[in-house]
Amino acid sequence: MPAMLEVEGLSFRYPESRRKAVSDFGLRVEEGEIVVLAGPSGCGKSTLLRAVNGLVPHMYSGDYSGDVRVAGRSVKATDMRELAQTVGFLFQNPENQIFMFSVERDVAFGLENLGVPRPEMRARVDEALRLLGVEPLAQRAPHELSDGQKQRVALAGVIAMRPKLVILDEPTSLLDPKTASELVGLVARLRKELGTTFLIVEHRLDLLVGVADRMVVMSEGRKVLDGTPADVLLGEEAEGYGVAVPSITRLQKALAREGLVSGSRVMTSAELAAAVEGPGGI
Ligand SMILES: Nc1ncnc2c1ncn2[C@@H]1O[C@H](COP(=O)(O)OP(=O)(O)OP(=O)(O)O)[C@@H](O)[C@H]1O
Ligand SMILES: [Mg+2]
Repeated sequence: MPAMLEVEGLSFRYPESRRKAVSDFGLRVEEGEIVVLAGPSGCGKSTLLRAVNGLVPHMYSGDYSGDVRVAGRSVKATDMRELAQTVGFLFQNPENQIFMFSVERDVAFGLENLGVPRPEMRARVDEALRLLGVEPLAQRAPHELSDGQKQRVALAGVIAMRPKLVILDEPTSLLDPKTASELVGLVARLRKELGTTFLIVEHRLDLLVGVADRMVVMSEGRKVLDGTPADVLLGEEAEGYGVAVPSITRLQKALAREGLVSGSRVMTSAELAAAVEGPGGI
C-alpha cells in the first residue's frame, strides 16, 4: 500500500536562487495522520508544500530532482487539475481563495470547475458547510465575514472537494487565539469524521501539540527532526533549530530536569499545574 504522501530525495532550487530551497528531503505520511512542519523563516516549508500540491514543478520551474507521490501517483507526472482532486490546499490568506457573491457559491466553486452534477454538488456543499459550522452564513457575502469566518469558508471549499490530503500553510496566522484553537479543533474533527490526512505548516506549536501525530523540523531545506510532539519538543535539539517551543513546554522541561515532573509526554498547563501541586509535587 502506498502511503498518502511519499517524498523521496527531493531537491528544488528556484531559478533566481543560488542555494536549494529544499534539499534531499524525505518524508512519509500515512493516511489519517496529522503532521506538523516547523522551522525558521526561509527554511523551505512553503516550497515543500508547493511540491506536494504540484505548484512545484508545474508552476514554479527550477532544478528539480527526487520524487513526490500522493496516494502513489507522482506529482511531477500528474497535472494540477487532477491533483486538486486528491490534495486540498489552503492559502495563508483566505482572501486569495474567496471571491464569489455568496459563501455557498464560494464553497461550490471548485466542484463547479470539475463539472460535478448539481445534486451531488448540493450534497457536498451542505456537508462542508455543516462540518465547518458555517451553514448560517451560506447566503452571506464573503467580504462581510470576519477573518475567522473567511478561514472556515475557505476550508469548507477545500473540504467540499473531498481531498484525501489537506495541506495548510500557517492557517492560524490571521486568527485570534480562540479562533485559531477552533480551527485546530476542526482539523481533528475532519480527520476523525472523514479520515482526512493533514500536513500543516505552523509556528504556534502549542495549539497543535494535542492533535499532531508527528512534528517534522526543517532547517536550510533539510529535514533535521521527525518524531512525536514529545520527541521533538521535549528533546534538546528543537530550540537550536529555531523551533518556537511553547513556553509551557520549556517550563515542563525545566521541572523535569529537577525531577519534579515526568518528561515523557507534552503536558498542558492544567496537567503541569496538577502534577506540581499533586502528591510528591512541589
Ligand atoms: N518564488 C520564489 N522565487 C525564488 N526564491 C524563492 C521563492 N519562494 C521562496 N524562495 C526562497 O526559497 C527559500 C525557501 O523559502 P520558503 O518560502 O519555502 O520558506 P518558508 O520556510 O516557507 O519561510 P516562511 O516561514 O518565511 O514562510 C528561501 O530562501 C526563499 O527566499
Ligand atoms: Mg512559508
